[in-house]
Amino acid sequence: MFKAAVLTVSDRSARGERPDASGPVVAAMLEQAGYQVLCTGLVPDEQPQIEAELCRLSDQLGADLVVTTGGTGFAPRDVTPEATIAVCQRMTPGIPEAMRYASMAVTPRAMLSRAQAGIRGRTLIVNLPGSPKAARENLEAVLPSLAHGLEMLSGVQADCAAHPAP
Ligand code: MTE
Repeated sequence: MFKAAVLTVSDRSARGERPDASGPVVAAMLEQAGYQVLCTGLVPDEQPQIEAELCRLSDQLGADLVVTTGGTGFAPRDVTPEATIAVCQRMTPGIPEAMRYASMAVTPRAMLSRAQAGIRGRTLIVNLPGSPKAARENLEAVLPSLAHGLEMLSGVQADCAAHPAP
């Protein structure tokens, strides 16, 4: 069972002005898919705070997967992608490519998400947009494929041919 952590990035939720609706949606989807959700957290749209939390969840908590929600758009304070790039050693562009490709069938505004994904040590970090609807639609597009990546990352299973995709 892989260990996951969920991080909501939102100024308004961090100030208590809006309940965090997306974090619980993401956590429930991960649990449904068989992940152990170690924790859910909330930070404002401050790049140093996002980076610090991504590092803590990866390095100290030892999450296999960290999923963020929020801060991927064009607003001046949307800096989750920049924080993710800053803490990752290897980017995994296929994951956000797949999310945007799938999401374009739902809304042409999907192209406005600047979500990133990448690897920090043995942890995969994946950004999702902020609304519960967008978070769900984006995660649905990639969730079935993530476990195979996590297996390779942990060294458990590196043979893609041994477990062909359905
Ligand atoms: N993707 C899906 N599947 N569904 C959506 O409704 N909304 C888009 C996009 N991706 C959306 C989506 C919009 S309107 C924006 S601005 C970006 O995600 C970034 O969202 P964020 O700023 O909340 O992170």
